[in-house]
Amino acid sequence: MVAKVELHLHLEGAIAPELMLDIAGRNKIDAPRDIIGPNSTYIWQDFMDFLNVYDKASQVLRTGEDYYAITYDYLKRCANEGAIYVEFMPSPDHAELCGISYDDMLAGCIKAIDDAKRDFNIDSRIIITCVRHFGVEKCIKVAEETVKRLHPYIVGFGMGGDELGFPPGQFAKAYHIAHEAGLRCNVHAGEWGDTQSMWEAIDKLPVQRLGHGVRAIEDPNLIAALIDRDIALEVCPGSNIALGVYNDFSEHPFVKLRDAGVKVSLSSDDPPFFNTTLGKEYETAKNVFGLSESELNDITHMAIDASFADDVLKETLRGRV
Ligand code: ADE
Ligand code: ZN
Repeated sequence: MVAKVELHLHLEGAIAPELMLDIAGRNKIDAPRDIIGPNSTYIWQDFMDFLNVYDKASQVLRTGEDYYAITYDYLKRCANEGAIYVEFMPSPDHAELCGISYDDMLAGCIKAIDDAKRDFNIDSRIIITCVRHFGVEKCIKVAEETVKRLHPYIVGFGMGGDELGFPPGQFAKAYHIAHEAGLRCNVHAGEWGDTQSMWEAIDKLPVQRLGHGVRAIEDPNLIAALIDRDIALEVCPGSNIALGVYNDFSEHPFVKLRDAGVKVSLSSDDPPFFNTTLGKEYETAKNVFGLSESELNDITHMAIDASFADDVLKETLRGRV
C-alpha cells in the first residue's frame, strides 16, 4: 500500500454519521438524523448549506472526551488506508458553541494523537483553525487563545469558511499573532475565490501553504510566485467535485498544477460530506489522473516536505515512504 500523508482535514468535518449518532446518544441529545444520507454520508445542497450541515453535525459534541473520540476514530480509519501522517484542523469556535473549553478540546485531541500513534503507528499534528465568516474579532480571539497555550503538537494556524464573503487580507492581525508565536500558517484560498483572493492571501498573510489553491491554474504569474515563495497547495479533488468547484475530474487542474512545478498534496477535507477518504483521493490520482505508484510516492514526499512537522519527524516519515 502506498504511504499517504494528509495536510488538510477538518476534524469536525470528519465525524462519521454513525459516530455522530453514538455521541448524541451518549450526550442525550436529539441527533439531527435528517442530515444523514446513504453510505455513511451527510446530505447538503450547496456550499452554504454544507457549512450549515457541518455545524449541525458537530453540535452533538459536549466534552473533551468527544473530541478524543472523533480524533481517534479518524486517525484509526485513516491509518487503515495507509496514512502515516495527518495534520488535522480542529475549530475552537465549534467547540465553544457546544460548551467545550479550548483546553478540554485540546486535551482530547492530544490524547488521541498519542493513543493513535501507539495503536496504529500514525503520527499526527494539529492546525488550530478559525472560521472567517464568524468575523475578524473571533479569529483574533482564536489566535490569542492558541498562542497562550502552545503545545508541541500544535504546529499551525489556519482559517476556513466563506472565502467569497470574507477575503483573506482583513485577517492579517490574527495571522501575525500566530506567526509571531512561531506557528506555521495555512489559509483556504483559491477554492471559491479567484486568483485575486490567492494573491491577497500570499501577499498579506504569512502563509506557507494554501488550502485548495486550485484556481492558481488561471494565472501563470501566480504559479511562478507560489514556486518562488515555496508555497505548497493542499489539494482536495473529491471535495472540489462534490461542492461543484469543477464539474468533473477531467476539468480538475491537479495534474496541470503538478506539471507546472507547484508543490501539491492530496487531502480529503471533510470526508463523510464528500463521500471520500484519503485512500479514495489517492485512488483518484492513480485511476483518473493517471499517476504511477512512484508518482504517488512523490506526492507523499512533497506533502512531507510541506508539512509543519519538525525535521526529526519529517526524516522518520521519509523513511516510511
Ligand atoms: N470548512 C470545512 N470545509 C471547508 C471548505 N471546503 N472550504 C471552506 N471552509 C471549509
Ligand atoms: Zn478545508
